[in-house]
Amino acid sequence: MYSVNFDISGQVAAITGAGGVICGTVAREMAKKGVKVALLDLFLENAQKIADEIVAEGGDAIAVKTDVLDRASLEAARDKVVEKYGKIDILINGAGGNKPQATISKDIDFFHLDLNAFKWVFDLNVTGAVLTTMVFGELLAKQGYGNVINIASMSSYHPLTNTVAYCGAKAAVANFTEWMATHFNQNYSNSIRVNAIAPGFLLTNQNRFLLTKEDGSATDRGQRVLAKTPMGRYGEPVEMVGPIIFLCSEAASFVNGAVLPVDGGFSSYWGV
Ligand SMILES: NC(=O)c1ccc[n+]([C@@H]2O[C@H](COP(=O)([O-])OP(=O)(O)OC[C@H]3O[C@@H](n4cnc5c(N)ncnc54)[C@H](O)[C@@H]3O)[C@@H](O)[C@H]2O)c1
Repeated sequence: MYSVNFDISGQVAAITGAGGVICGTVAREMAKKGVKVALLDLFLENAQKIADEIVAEGGDAIAVKTDVLDRASLEAARDKVVEKYGKIDILINGAGGNKPQATISKDIDFFHLDLNAFKWVFDLNVTGAVLTTMVFGELLAKQGYGNVINIASMSSYHPLTNTVAYCGAKAAVANFTEWMATHFNQNYSNSIRVNAIAPGFLLTNQNRFLLTKEDGSATDRGQRVLAKTPMGRYGEPVEMVGPIIFLCSEAASFVNGAVLPVDGGFSSYWGV
């Protein structure tokens, strides 16, 4: 008899980019739900701080220095998580971001965009998610079960102005989500699901320079974002957590290859 089950307690989650704003919050909130969380980040200090706080509050967490662009580093991290917790149920590919040098501005036009910065954005967002899924996904394939969550973006559906590298990269992340879901099911197990959330606009490190002026007031772009968000506000990092928990739970057992907008309605509204 099927019963709808949102409970993910007892599961083990490996979360990349967990020293950051969104995935640090995801780690904290999942730990409160009884998930054992491994916080993987290039900057150990940030991940360690959050892991220590989780443990101090009675949760179970470890931090592991990990570079999502380095296979050996990912393999070492995966082995460390398995050594500690015995399995991995959930992989969250949270490492990602943008940088000003890969963004059109009054100082940089498209024709002179720094190609190295462009490649950096593709590497971090796309190669990072793909390589991490290679390393951790092999374990899920052997186990025959698991959930992978990618972090897409509003720019996965339609490009946003100026952020040419980020838009292409996040479109690729959404495409990879669909591809990987199919690949796992057709070749390894239909108990492995791959989904993504597409966060709407949050005020965080990666986009503060685009959305707010130094005095804290909204830039022209910030005003337009708020005007096109039916709910009329930015999202909070904690609002990303519920949809991720849902996607990882049995309640979403037939949700696969989906890119779920978590955006206050931004992607539903053309602005007219
Ligand atoms: N902030 C937003 O508004 C927003 C919107 C849509 C999507 N996203 C996406 O959500 C994810 C998290 O964003 P955030 O705002 O929390 O960013 P953040 O910068 O706060 O966190 C990103 C984390 O990734 C880590 N990282 C960078 N390079 C790494 C590497 N090579 N290996 C391992 N870790 C590495 C950083 O140290 C950082 O802790 C990203 O994929 C981002 O693109 C963010």
